[in-house]
Amino acid sequence: MRQLNVGIIGYKFMGRAHSNAWKKASLFFDIPFQPVLKVACGRHLDGLTEFADKWGWEETETDWRRLIERDDIDVIDIATPQHLHAEIALAAAKAGKHLFCEKPLAMTSAQAEEMLRACQASGVTHYLNHNYRRVPAIALAKRMIDDGLIGTVYHWRAAYQQDWITDPNFPLTWQLQRELAQAGPQWDLNSHCVDLAHHLVGQITDVTALTRRFIDQRPLAMEGAMGNLKAEASRTGMGQVTVEDAALMLVNFKNGAVGSFEATRFANGRKNKLSFEIYGSDGAVTFDLERLNELRYFSNRDPDGLSGFRTLLTTDESHPYIKNWWPAGHIIGYEHTFIHAVADFVTALGQGTAIKPDFSDGVAILKVLEAGLKSATEQKTVTIEY
Ligand SMILES: NC(=O)c1ccc[n+]([C@@H]2O[C@H](COP(=O)([O-])OP(=O)(O)OC[C@H]3O[C@@H](n4cnc5c(N)ncnc54)[C@H](O)[C@@H]3O)[C@@H](O)[C@H]2O)c1
Repeated sequence: MRQLNVGIIGYKFMGRAHSNAWKKASLFFDIPFQPVLKVACGRHLDGLTEFADKWGWEETETDWRRLIERDDIDVIDIATPQHLHAEIALAAAKAGKHLFCEKPLAMTSAQAEEMLRACQASGVTHYLNHNYRRVPAIALAKRMIDDGLIGTVYHWRAAYQQDWITDPNFPLTWQLQRELAQAGPQWDLNSHCVDLAHHLVGQITDVTALTRRFIDQRPLAMEGAMGNLKAEASRTGMGQVTVEDAALMLVNFKNGAVGSFEATRFANGRKNKLSFEIYGSDGAVTFDLERLNELRYFSNRDPDGLSGFRTLLTTDESHPYIKNWWPAGHIIGYEHTFIHAVADFVTALGQGTAIKPDFSDGVAILKVLEAGLKSATEQKTVTIEY
């Protein structure tokens, strides 16, 4: 099988999730190329070498520009904070590398448009990793909605709730600094939910939003090679948090549906709870990432006296992606969504087709998120120009 040489930039949380996916995809899916974990890139050689040895990356590189210059790299996997996505993607597209890029696509929709144009000009494949589209239960929800099972959609209701920064001593990491992250949960969490809303319901036309910051100052973080942030925080001073801690949006969809989004890092007890509810003229579907193998479905067509939400365990061979995994009931998890993304990406490369979501979806998502921030600042409804 022809090899596909991958160079990854960033080796922490997403670096690990992606490495696992590049390694496993060909073991579970029939894909046209064999991904090769060729070069891992990061800033610090000590942590990077440990990572590369552990995950089986053949080589290391501390300058992402040198990685992109290499002739033997087919794919650049961008797993860095978003302030670097545009610069890396523009250089990689120019060098003819296919792109597998983490979300949110960029700091602004203008940057994202430039990235999209660069990929279109060079003809490279561009994938934006909103991996939740590839949760089997969510892919099943999409199929059910497209098949008309819940009829005309009236309501979208999403909440993405986490609690990892409720401790005021949690340090000022990159996610809490505007120049590195652009925004807080609006970029990080609502980007996923807006992608799902666009995918499952349709295009959003206007946004009314509010944002709130609960904690203004945090201990400065000096990042160690492998990022032992808490230990360092006690030795340093305080710094200003420059992003919001919670972001709420009300939206209209072009097709007449209405929706709400709630994104927060201050929901104590909620670790990574991405949930949505979709209500239509003939029924409803609801999902909760903390119960990833399940989709709940209500049908108006159920007989009188026997109606109610039922829980579909989405591990049957007929459910999306599942025939490549285990027998029914042998559940899958978070990391599988990344393997699905890599398998679909490599398949798209083999077939010369596009893969969704791509950078054009990233542009649309960022327009909604920007409209949300503008609405919160100006305290008015903002209409989105696509
Ligand atoms: N798809 C998802 O569900 C999901 C989940 C978490 C994060 N993300 C996204 O993934 C991206 C990375 O987030 P993370 O949680 O992995 O962050 P992280 O802090 O865990 O890792 C970031 C990595 O980028 C590296 N890096 C930073 N600057 C660099 C530079 N100049 N050159 C080379 N490497 C550099 C760091 O050394 C680190 O290895 C972000 O855009 C984030 O929004 C996506």
